[in-house]
Amino acid sequence: MGTTVNGTPAQIGADPATTAAEFVRDGLGLTGTKTACNAGVCGSCTLLLDGAPAASCLLPATALEGRSVTTVEGIGNGAEHPVQRAFAAHDAMQCGYCTPGFVVEAAAFVDRHRAEHGDTAPARDEIADALAGHLCRCGAYPGIYAAVASACAGEHDGAAESAPPRTEAAEKASGRARYTTDVRPEGCWEAVIVRSTRAHAHVLGVDAGGAHHVDLLGADRTVRYVGQPLVAVAAPTAAKARAAAEQVSVDYRDLPAAADPAAARLPGAAVVHSTRAERGAAPSHSEGFVPPARWKDNVRGPFNMGWRSATAVKRIREAARRGDDRLVTGVFQTAVQAHTPLEPHACVARWDDAGDLHIHVSTQAVAALAEEAAERWELPRGRVHITAEHVGGAFGAKAGLRVETVAAVELARACGAPVRLVFDRAAELTDGGHRPASRTEIALLADADGHLSAMTMDAYSDGGVSVGGMVTTLARLMYGRGPRRLRDFDVVSHRPPGAPFRGPNGPQLLWALEQAVDDMAHRIGEDPIALRRRWDGNTKRHALYDWAAALPVWRERTAGAPPGRFRRGVGVAAANWMYLVDSATTIELVVEDGTVVAETAVQDIGTGARSVVSGVVADELGVPAGLVRVRAGHSDLPYAPASTGSRTTASLGPAARDAAAKLQEEARGRGAGTAGSGRLDAAALAALEGLRVRGRRRRDRRGYVTPFALPDGGTIGRGFTGAVHVVEVEVDTLLGAVRPTRCWAGISAGRIYAERPARNQCEGGVVQGIGYALYEQRRDDPLTGAVLTANMEDYRIPGIGDTPEITVHFHEEGWEHVTGGGVGLGEVSTIGVAAAVGNAVFDATGWRPRELPLRPDRILEGIGAK
Ligand code: FES
Repeated sequence: MGTTVNGTPAQIGADPATTAAEFVRDGLGLTGTKTACNAGVCGSCTLLLDGAPAASCLLPATALEGRSVTTVEGIGNGAEHPVQRAFAAHDAMQCGYCTPGFVVEAAAFVDRHRAEHGDTAPARDEIADALAGHLCRCGAYPGIYAAVASACAGEHDGAAESAPPRTEAAEKASGRARYTTDVRPEGCWEAVIVRSTRAHAHVLGVDAGGAHHVDLLGADRTVRYVGQPLVAVAAPTAAKARAAAEQVSVDYRDLPAAADPAAARLPGAAVVHSTRAERGAAPSHSEGFVPPARWKDNVRGPFNMGWRSATAVKRIREAARRGDDRLVTGVFQTAVQAHTPLEPHACVARWDDAGDLHIHVSTQAVAALAEEAAERWELPRGRVHITAEHVGGAFGAKAGLRVETVAAVELARACGAPVRLVFDRAAELTDGGHRPASRTEIALLADADGHLSAMTMDAYSDGGVSVGGMVTTLARLMYGRGPRRLRDFDVVSHRPPGAPFRGPNGPQLLWALEQAVDDMAHRIGEDPIALRRRWDGNTKRHALYDWAAALPVWRERTAGAPPGRFRRGVGVAAANWMYLVDSATTIELVVEDGTVVAETAVQDIGTGARSVVSGVVADELGVPAGLVRVRAGHSDLPYAPASTGSRTTASLGPAARDAAAKLQEEARGRGAGTAGSGRLDAAALAALEGLRVRGRRRRDRRGYVTPFALPDGGTIGRGFTGAVHVVEVEVDTLLGAVRPTRCWAGISAGRIYAERPARNQCEGGVVQGIGYALYEQRRDDPLTGAVLTANMEDYRIPGIGDTPEITVHFHEEGWEHVTGGGVGLGEVSTIGVAAAVGNAVFDATGWRPRELPLRPDRILEGIGAK
């Protein structure tokens, strides 16, 4: 059977079970075509079939017979297609995993549009319609809109920009960027994890037949959720591995389960973690330290981070007794939000003949993982080699030594061959990490002068078997020093564990707090921004409030719910986040082949780490960006931070600058550079060939909050990042649909190192916040806890058509005490968005939403009951 792929004849096997995506990826090695959902939903696997876009994950390879296939590698007939240049120029990507699929579809659309309409930019809706079959979990949609419009207008027909805003843009737009899921060494075996089908059981025995396998159960031989890894099996092909997995038999002794979080709190409910040791070993969905707290059956807590708690409670009780209309109370709930990065958790492990361990892994912590792996397998650190050149999305759940790595490494040793293990989408949506659901009871009291007199919050986090709820803790950091009781509880149940997710606990807090503050503003008749400005002591956020208050959309909004079916409303929410840094960050510069190569172990998860390093080095040295290359994503390179806690940029930028300064010093010492200035040109670089210098991240001028590094290498710095989001929505009061139309994101994180990638990240934060507000809700079977939304049709994330027009405003002052002047913004840029949407819905309808997501049925019920 034959076909033509990118103009070259190719033979197709006769196996009807092989998909077209598998044929081009595994058979032909054309790994630009990605697979993510395997359900025809996300568009990552799009290729052209006789010139028309098609999802190749659902198409049998046999359907390619006699057809002409074009993959991303063949778009543009061997040259770069204008769409690829446009994607690079407009930074229409972050992690880049979705990018090839978008590029293929967009190229077909652009060619068609130009043939029919000439070089004109299509309307935004036309672009959204054309790309409706594609999903980008990072939320790079604003750049995609801009890229497609400009390519249609013929703005990218000439040569590519020499320095696109993202260093690795061309690799991602062409499909050349290699992710862990693209790695398949010679002789590689495939592995599959067999997972529990029981919510709670003792495992009496596992029979893996004759398959190579590794046991993944803990010492207590107990499973605590449907989907928990039991055993991993490996075989020379994926089909054989799947067959071996199906042959595994497990002997369970079922135990009573508490799979429903409400039932888990009832007296007599089955206890998830019953011993002190089990409680101590419970997984955490928090980032960093989980403070100790007492347990009562399935409830852990309270952990109170308030102050003058008794005063706060007394004032609120008395206000309730006297019916004080300056007392705002409410119960706010959020749903489970799944990470679901488009590149699933994946690992390829290999032991070499000398006993060194080589691991390709989709991780957001290359250097830290190397340390953990060395410890786990008792190897000197230098004999563990972690690689993560490109990572297809990571939002907190890809840090640490996880099951895919443990299983692949153990199986590689058992099989004597490289072993590859990739989560399927059901595993990803079940066990790939999630933001726990929450229920928060809040009360705010204002005194006669409108000052915050008292605050109480009780938050119950529902993270399945995991703990780490610190929702109210974050309320310590906002709105002054008024008395407050801030109590956090975890309610554990027999469901999968949560994981840190971009601003852990932040969206849950702000969904409650920022709506309660909004409610208070309306109670006391004050502008919601003015009230926040008055209550909030953060001077950097004051600048953002002033910016937001001056926006025409805010100044010109009308009071009261407007009449009619479609009602527009505008809402605001503020956000606060910590500043973390990894002061051990190191960058080496080496002059190589007439260029400067910056070496760092850092993984670029799409946040622009490479661009930060290359931009700083090029600026400092005064060389064109094209003369700086970044070698990243390998643990053999100098130490770099994990991409967690928004610490990467604040750590890398100053280290890069320090290294560049040292290179200049060396150049000056050798009399190289323009007029001996140390500013380098090509001739000077040629004279410095082979020179190597090392830069460190210098300590902040005022030191740090924590005098020592936390276990994950981070240090808490002085100061807080801030955000103010203003969102405009349109509510369809007939159908209950909420459509965000425009969003303004004001961000205070100091100096912006790489402007367009930073803006892109903030835009993606808005998109993810909108998903949290409107669509994302994991659904579980209440009896077994099995995840029912285990595919991307049932678990809905925002598409390009759901994206409002987004304006990002950076306030760069106030971080002069920080070395380099800039800190991270990945978390503060997303955590307040849902609350701003909630406040906008209130503004549009006069009804205060309390429960996420804002589904049409909830909207209709809410505004109908008003
Ligand atoms: Fe689209 Fe990451 S850039 S999924």
